[in-house]
Amino acid sequence: MVDWIADYYTEIERYPVKADCKPGSVYASIPDTPPDEPEAMQGIFDDFEKIIMPGMTHWQSPKFLAYFPANTSFSSILAEFLSSALGAQCMKWETSPAATELEEAVMNWLKKMTGIPENFEGVIQDTASTSTLCAIITARERSTGFQANIEGLNNYSIMRVYCSAEAHSSVEKAVKIAGIGKNNLVKIGLDKEFRMKPELLEAAILNDFSTGKKPVCVVAALGTTGSTAVDPLPEIAAICTKYNIWLHVDAAFAGSALILPEYRWMIRGIEQADSLVFNPHKWLFTNFDCSAYFVKDSDTLINTFKLVPEYLKTQIPEHVNDYSNWGIQLGRRFRALKLWFVIRSFGVKGLQEKLRNHIAIAGELKSWIENNADFELLAPVLFNLVCFRFHPRGVDDLAELNRLNEQLMLTLNSTGSMYISHTKLNGIYTLRIVAAQTRVELRHIKNAWNLILEKSKAIYPLSNQ
Ligand SMILES: Cc1ncc(COP(=O)(O)O)c(C=O)c1O
Repeated sequence: MVDWIADYYTEIERYPVKADCKPGSVYASIPDTPPDEPEAMQGIFDDFEKIIMPGMTHWQSPKFLAYFPANTSFSSILAEFLSSALGAQCMKWETSPAATELEEAVMNWLKKMTGIPENFEGVIQDTASTSTLCAIITARERSTGFQANIEGLNNYSIMRVYCSAEAHSSVEKAVKIAGIGKNNLVKIGLDKEFRMKPELLEAAILNDFSTGKKPVCVVAALGTTGSTAVDPLPEIAAICTKYNIWLHVDAAFAGSALILPEYRWMIRGIEQADSLVFNPHKWLFTNFDCSAYFVKDSDTLINTFKLVPEYLKTQIPEHVNDYSNWGIQLGRRFRALKLWFVIRSFGVKGLQEKLRNHIAIAGELKSWIENNADFELLAPVLFNLVCFRFHPRGVDDLAELNRLNEQLMLTLNSTGSMYISHTKLNGIYTLRIVAAQTRVELRHIKNAWNLILEKSKAIYPLSNQ
């Protein structure tokens, strides 16, 4: 299998990057009932190749330019092997002392690498969605003196949470799960570059106070999903401090760029924030799942989540971390190992070099788009996400342009040679290319751009122009 994996990575560009399979086709290939008798591994593996592989989209292909990536690297994969082999369940210090202490150590490394202040403490969660949910529940509890956990929400004023209109859907999901209610998520308006407008945030907070509601949490995005816009943290942090509101920073994708000193401007004001999340599983070459959640006051987090039934009581002194009390799940995988392997095998300099290379590649694509009269950029390129559309000269109807761009994306993705995704910015159908895949090089982006030029001409021939 190790050989198979090595070959897979060598040949990965030969696979169609996006699975071309009909809905239900894989399901139909799996027997309705499980086998009663043991099967030989060879047969299982043959079916993996025959049934599963054709139905896989290849996230590790350098032709994968869609969404934000879920990166791997060989050191991370090897650490995952070991972690699976050890099969440790890392809920408490006693059940996995080395895993617990390594997690504390690598989270401290990440602070040093990114400039996250020393007085924050880190814990690995599965996803940014979970990290944000932890932040919002902790904010809820802080605002009620930890009583909502006991009494429920009936005795409290309506709680309010704020984020930008471009914030990730995980914020809305978290507000729903936390019992605050989707209608109490206030989406704040944006400036021209898709950043939250702090003056609108303050106005919304004051309005809520005046109607007896309780502002409990603001979520600021450093790198929105749609366009990697960076909300103005210093101004937002000052407002949160002024009104004593929990400030959670969602830097799920772009937070990895904090390892580059030239991107530290993003976290000016972070000392006034309460929590921050970024995902090494997106842009730091560490297998999914690995979400780094940092909190300034870990006692608030622990007071929110700690629960120790009799069967989980241990004789261990208080000063060790039992990370199951730092979040939602009890059972925890050994995720620190892969982060340790990755940071050591790349070195901070190696990681920085890779990120800078991605940013430079995206800069090339940006310049090709800028220099082509039939394409236009739709958002500033701050990192390695390029938002653009095909805009043939003379076509100015929004609906027609949206239709053309959707058709272009579907055509490109059906080739198997590249895979991109879309969003809507100001109602405009926006194509997104992310140059963040571990193995992506300039040539892949160049090939993608050539294909875009070719297919756009086919969709809207020059004779129409
Ligand atoms: C800004 C932002 N926040 C949160 C998420 C959710 O990440 P996860 O899949 O780790 O929950 C994403 C996913 O792309 C994101 O872009």
